[in-house]
Amino acid sequence: MKDTLILGIESSCDETACSVVRNGREILSNIIASQADFHEQYGGVVPELASRMHLDAVYPTVKEALEKADVTLSDIDAVAVTYGPGLVGALLVGLSAAKGLCLTSGKPLVGVNHLLGHICANYLCFPELEPPFLCLCVSGGNTQIIHVKDYTDLEIIGKTRDDAAGEAIDKIARVVGLGYPGGPKMDKAGQGGDINAYSFSYTHMADTLDFSFSGIKTSALNLINQTKMSGNDIDLKDFAASYQHHIASVLLKNTIKAVEKTGIRTVCLAGGVSANSFLRALFDEEAAKRGLKLYYPKLSLCTDNGAMIASAGYFEYIKGARSGLELNAVPSLRLDNR
Ligand code: KG4
Repeated sequence: MKDTLILGIESSCDETACSVVRNGREILSNIIASQADFHEQYGGVVPELASRMHLDAVYPTVKEALEKADVTLSDIDAVAVTYGPGLVGALLVGLSAAKGLCLTSGKPLVGVNHLLGHICANYLCFPELEPPFLCLCVSGGNTQIIHVKDYTDLEIIGKTRDDAAGEAIDKIARVVGLGYPGGPKMDKAGQGGDINAYSFSYTHMADTLDFSFSGIKTSALNLINQTKMSGNDIDLKDFAASYQHHIASVLLKNTIKAVEKTGIRTVCLAGGVSANSFLRALFDEEAAKRGLKLYYPKLSLCTDNGAMIASAGYFEYIKGARSGLELNAVPSLRLDNR
């Protein structure tokens, strides 16, 4: 069968990324221009500045991805692009670039949901992985348990009712002075710390696979303030370890409930927070104990990249999905309403 090459473009937040992927599984190139160092001085992503930086980076990134893959635009079968969820201005840059490429080359455009991309990062790492499986998708803005019935047939069976797990980590990282990006810094700060040193509140919701992280975040804030008011400092290493382990335990608890409810024994992790070492360690331990098959992408594919968008674009493309040039950015696009 003829190979299918997809060019994937991602610009939903602070990474301008482009990649060429063969048959949804094999990365031929994966170029990422990250703005994280630039936004660090502001303590978070400044949306307008992010859009401007995407504008400068998008075409050089596309050019480099094609060169590195040793192909030209005419060898590409379709251009896949993230159209949501994400920052509207940032999304529009990648989307407009993709439309321009399609308009000049006559290649089809395939709009991709960023969260489907995160799930597909697993296909790029594990050739044997096929649906059905459960996926815990944890990023800066989303926390969901997804029943992946087929490559493009997904059902959200659990979701956060307030903050995302990534936000709960990022916010507290800022409060303890680690700055932005909080997730990786918190992970590093907690290495070797005691996971039982501090305890946090737990919001128990019976009969649902939904999460709530705002109470956990508030209990961490209270703990930090009370410690300060009593003239002491928190032990950052132990605090970071305990807090991340607690969040990972909450994520694990509902994922195991989902396994029990559906009978599906293959679990994937996806999204930026799936890079977290406390989360990985806890899931590794539980999967081994219960005999579950557990997958998570290699670190470089956990955070935003174009390869995951090209992979998702491939599975949409072979199912016949095509987008018109009127495709618009959808900042709060849902996974089950693509
Ligand atoms: O998936 P992603 O790159 O972007 C979104 O689509 O949101 O996820 C970004 C999130 C941020 O909250 C970041 O702090 C978090 O992923 N993150 C981590 C780690 N690496 C990235 N959180 C915890 N531990 C990490 N090692």
